Amino acid sequence: MEKVLVLDFGGQYDQLIARRVREKKVYAEVISYRKITPEKIKDRKYKGVILTGGPNSVYADDAPRMSADLIEMGIPVLGICYGCQLIAYLAGGVVEAAKGQAEYGKTEFVHQTSVLFKGIPKISSCWMSHGDRVVELPEGFNITASTRNCPIASFECEDKMLYGVQFHPEVTHTEHGKAVLENFLFGICGCPGDSSMEDYAKYCIDRYQRDLKGKKVLCALSGGVDSSVAAVMLHQAIGDDLTCVFVDHGLLRKDEGDSVEKTFRKQFKMNIIRVNAQERFLNALKGVSEPEKKRKIIGEEFIRVFEEEAKKIGRVNILVQGTIYPDVIESGKGDAATIKSHHNVGGLPDVIEFDDIIEPLRELFKDEVRRLGIELGIPYEMVWRQPFPGPGLAIRIIGDITQEKLDILREADAIFREEIAAAGLEKSTNQYFAVLTDTRTVGVMGDARTYGYTVALRAVSTEDFMTADWSRIPYEVLEKASTRITDEIKNVSRVVYDITSKPPATVEWE
Ligand code: XMP
Repeated sequence: MEKVLVLDFGGQYDQLIARRVREKKVYAEVISYRKITPEKIKDRKYKGVILTGGPNSVYADDAPRMSADLIEMGIPVLGICYGCQLIAYLAGGVVEAAKGQAEYGKTEFVHQTSVLFKGIPKISSCWMSHGDRVVELPEGFNITASTRNCPIASFECEDKMLYGVQFHPEVTHTEHGKAVLENFLFGICGCPGDSSMEDYAKYCIDRYQRDLKGKKVLCALSGGVDSSVAAVMLHQAIGDDLTCVFVDHGLLRKDEGDSVEKTFRKQFKMNIIRVNAQERFLNALKGVSEPEKKRKIIGEEFIRVFEEEAKKIGRVNILVQGTIYPDVIESGKGDAATIKSHHNVGGLPDVIEFDDIIEPLRELFKDEVRRLGIELGIPYEMVWRQPFPGPGLAIRIIGDITQEKLDILREADAIFREEIAAAGLEKSTNQYFAVLTDTRTVGVMGDARTYGYTVALRAVSTEDFMTADWSRIPYEVLEKASTRITDEIKNVSRVVYDITSKPPATVEWE
């Protein structure tokens, strides 16, 4: 398969660049500059290389640099932001701090004739985020675009197939950013643009078949979209050498445990071990109200249960995890702040002896994981299932967790899901669920005073779960759900609907 390399210099947008490339049906691999050399890049026959941005200055002592061979490979190279400065620096140009002329945000750029800007209006807007800039070009290089504060906003050296843009073509704020990348991929690298999800699935399966030959592989299966796609892909590569452990922690939705077991055992004919650890988790969580503490306890208990099962299986070489890109980001990648500790990111290998861990979906966004799932033959309903967090209902019960609260929440959630389905809103709403708050309120039922729980309903529309808007569910649907919840569930006296977007809120309440 023909590939493009996204060479990561510590920027924020490395995976976004890869995603944009994949959107153009070109396979993109993201590798840190520390883990590859120009020689290896040449050997691997990439059609092109994109150098990402990064937080450093090229002239800083600890700047991420590569040898000048990087620009002598005879492969087209596009440098973005830091990457652009690095090309100029390695070729003998001058990069300086912009001193009061740094640019952050949207700005206008004017371009000259260049294959990189083919089909793009002469003046359009781009997104800048830089403190340094190229002030003198190396010999043989030409300026191809300028902005008000950045006379060398873009350059090229056609002979060596080197291109640099100070702005970020990968972000949507750059008006014709996608066209810039398209021009690089097709006009300069000559990529055929015919790589499909089918090719990607095949490529991964072939690679795992080769790399994991004769190895015993263990997968923690939750039944959610991510771990299911990762497990099915591995199963197609190595068959019965894969064992899946499904820990039923008792924090799943109504009937979910049985359905997960049935699908994987009967339909996919996979080796699956279901561990019924409901009581164990409930005991460990007794009296705990603090959300991060709940997550930690569940994560640790999960590891212990998993470890015990792994020991029963015997020697295992590899652990598979269904981590996807947004999990990696939200759990704090590099300098990014940790918003929530997604317990499925890292963690396990410290306590269990494995030779290695693989995360086949680490580079993919949710919608890509879903398309991959379809390609692998996973039923539509499963692939399009709304996401369900690892810690399950524990982070949808505010305050401590008891069996009674779990039962109430499971019923309320099932009713809400039924009503969303009955109204045909399953596809337009990306995630919807009930939350059991720790607020009890007064109600009146059959002339008697009640003092029951408040159930909150939450529904969001989002593309990537990094940001989300609250869904405008029709009043009639909310009314039906509310009436059914208070009628059918004992001890609930009030239902409210959450109308907060993300940010400032998160999707989950905890
Ligand atoms: P938040 O609440 O962070 O949710 O806006 C974004 C998406 O991630 C899911 N989520 C989790 N998934 N472990 C998971 O596996 C977690 O601890 C966790 N917390 C949130 C959430 O359901 C939503 O889809």
